[in-house]
Amino acid sequence: MANRNPICDGIFTAQGVVCASGEETRALGRALAEAIATDATLSLEGPLGAGKTCFVQGLAEGLGLDPAMVSSPTFTLVHEYPGGRLPLIHFDLYRLNSEEELAGLGYEDYFQSPGIRAIEWGDKFPAALPAAAWQIRLSIEGETRRVRGTR
Ligand SMILES: Nc1ncnc2c1ncn2[C@@H]1O[C@H](COP(=O)(O)OP(=O)(O)OP(=O)(O)O)[C@@H](O)[C@H]1O
Ligand SMILES: [Mg+2]
Repeated sequence: MANRNPICDGIFTAQGVVCASGEETRALGRALAEAIATDATLSLEGPLGAGKTCFVQGLAEGLGLDPAMVSSPTFTLVHEYPGGRLPLIHFDLYRLNSEEELAGLGYEDYFQSPGIRAIEWGDKFPAALPAAAWQIRLSIEGETRRVRGTR
């Protein structure tokens, strides 16, 4: 995985990256998307309003997609955005009740071809995450957000 961008490399350090605004969180997502060569699954974790959707808007932008298309897929659970450098698949598991429901979405099928899969609340069903998924944790620190990841 080509990943030479110092901004997004900071995500994977012990202290992570502090974002002072939604725009900074988006910029971080954009930098990460630009550094992903062909394929990644990102489990986006953190409390309500932490900036997970904001980060996914940045991923979209980094793939050359219009970030305004990305909203919370709360009621549909999954949105697919083709047309960028790589396909972007955006899940939100917040309202999902069981792993069986996930299977009903054809969840596994989304892991068969290259693309970026961003899974909000990916820690809700850890057994359903592919082993290679990266964890991206957003925590709220006053008016700012800290973004930390493991890969
Ligand atoms: N540093 C920051 N990073 C991200 N968002 C911020 C920041 N500061 C303020 N915000 C605001 O916090 C909100 C984050 O909302 P967002 O929908 O991205 O969160 P979320 O984690 O997806 O929430 P949910 O769990 O409800 O899906 C936005 O309104 C954004 O403008
Ligand atoms: Mg969200």
